[in-house]
Amino acid sequence: LQHLLTTNELKVEEIYQILEDAERFSQGLFWKPERQMYTANLFFEASTRTKSSFEMAQRRLGLSVIPFEVQTSSVQKGETLYDTVKTLESIGVDTVVIRHSQDRYFDELVENINIPILNGGDGCGHHPTQSLLDLLTIKQEFGSFSGLKIAIIGDISHSRVARSNADALTRLGAEVIYSGPEEWFDYHSLSTSRFKPIDVAISESDVVMFLRVQHERHQKKGSFTASEYHKKYGLTIEREKQMQPHSIIMHPAPVNRNVEIADSLVECERSRIFKQMQNGVYVRMAALKRSLESLGGGNQYETAYSE
Ligand code: CP
Repeated sequence: LQHLLTTNELKVEEIYQILEDAERFSQGLFWKPERQMYTANLFFEASTRTKSSFEMAQRRLGLSVIPFEVQTSSVQKGETLYDTVKTLESIGVDTVVIRHSQDRYFDELVENINIPILNGGDGCGHHPTQSLLDLLTIKQEFGSFSGLKIAIIGDISHSRVARSNADALTRLGAEVIYSGPEEWFDYHSLSTSRFKPIDVAISESDVVMFLRVQHERHQKKGSFTASEYHKKYGLTIEREKQMQPHSIIMHPAPVNRNVEIADSLVECERSRIFKQMQNGVYVRMAALKRSLESLGGGNQYETAYSE
């Protein structure tokens, strides 16, 4: 079974294979499973991009999407995550996408669940498809990862995107540096020598990747207002001018406009934020293809979509 739970578990060759398939999907590759397959998306936390782009990817691959909403499911009667997924497996669902607030929720599933699980985000842990779509966007821009300097800036300790990206980018040959409020820097799992003042990080990097301030994961109220945060740690109009001519702006979104990034810069020429979202569909098609192929077969045509 090919689950997709974290980027750490993917070998470099597997990352490149997914990126290659995603690129081909973006160019019109058509692939569908040999038999009718069914999928369900279990989102225990809010989502716009991940849920909608998984569903778009599933529909483009010809999968039937079985509706599942936590609020109207038997989760409300106390049914566990394990029993919920086992139930979907029993009725014939072939693969599930799960987002859950619990870090590594999947550890309790993988032993006895016999369908591939694609992680749509676990707590502060991992967000592998976000990382893969970020990698695709960077690769499309620069051709390779080797020698690139990438600044990850903001609410690092609460960010599953930061952890997934730091691991993958480093293994692919990029140099990753960090900036933002020191109180939100994760001293346990990241190298302190790579923590830089915001102006240094922005002026030195090929990619400046801002992270959302994740208020919902903070135990106590932040020590700055939105406008103080923007001035100290955000991409202001003035800071954007310090970026190198070729450098790009990324953000996993949703963006708190005028907090992490000045409103007018969210859609500026350097911004790849909406390109990232577009790439999310192709990367999720590639991730689903990988998982469904592990169940057996698929048909591939080098033609435009025939929906
Ligand atoms: N980037 C991201 O995961 O967005 P959503 O929370 O809207 O899915």
